[in-house]
Amino acid sequence: MMKNFKQFAIVLTSITMIGSVNLLAQNAATVDIGALAGRQLYVLKKCGDCHNQGAAKFTPIKAAWDSTKLAAHVEALKLENVLRKDSSPRRQKKTFGEEIVALVAYLQNREKADAAAKNFVTAGYAMTREGCRNCHTINGIGKEVGPNLAGVGGKHDKKWLIDHFVSPQAFVKDSMMPKFEQLPKEELEAMADYLLALK
Ligand code: HEC
Ligand code: HEC
Repeated sequence: MMKNFKQFAIVLTSITMIGSVNLLAQNAATVDIGALAGRQLYVLKKCGDCHNQGAAKFTPIKAAWDSTKLAAHVEALKLENVLRKDSSPRRQKKTFGEEIVALVAYLQNREKADAAAKNFVTAGYAMTREGCRNCHTINGIGKEVGPNLAGVGGKHDKKWLIDHFVSPQAFVKDSMMPKFEQLPKEELEAMADYLLALK
């Protein structure tokens, strides 16, 4: 009786696992924005000077450290803070944390992030830098001050998304979403393409 129950439980677990694998496969086009931002940070912070094959001081990355260990490593290297330029030391420290989170996400999803389209990397970096997750849940991560962006690609077209980034208040009179009119066209388009993939 107990044995049968165990087998039943194993079958149930396998079905659930197959289910989640399918879900991941469906979302293959939408690599998490954190991992995409991390990929860009890896390039901008020149991690490859030591970690890419062929680098003068080549050290292979065998396993990704946790965020605390990685933060200590990056702090020791005194790498430039590139996600946001901020004069206030307090804000700089905060930004540094965001960079570590993104780098860890990248190292944990390296193959997928390396295979992602260039404009998705641009989108992930821009959306992380602009703090969209301070107000939106994207791929299950983030706050819900504004709507969860799951399925948003099925709700709007590209033109709507870009016009809304430029002036949310043109759509929702008292929207608390900031205007992103200052962002380069390339970033606005990339963010729209990424969100369109979140069907
Ligand atoms: C100046 C060279 C240098 C740079 C730049 C550098 N690293 Fe490293 N990194 C090392 C060395 C050397 C080690 C192995 C020695 C150690 O344990 O500290 C290492 C270890 C690591 C490890 C653990 C590897 C393992 O499998 O144990 C990770 C993860 C890592 N680095 C990530 C990064 C990231 C991300 C960046 C960029 C933000 C970066 N490193 C920049 C030299 C560098
Ligand atoms: C200060 C909070 C805040 C920030 C930061 C913010 N948003 Fe919003 N966003 C909102 C609110 C509130 C709404 C709902 C009202 C509206 O549509 O303007 C919204 C709506 C949206 C919608 C429409 C959602 C739907 O279901 O119709 C999209 C798409 C969107 N935001 C994307 C973004 C992106 C991308 C960023 C970062 C570049 C961002 N938002 C940053 C608060 C924010």
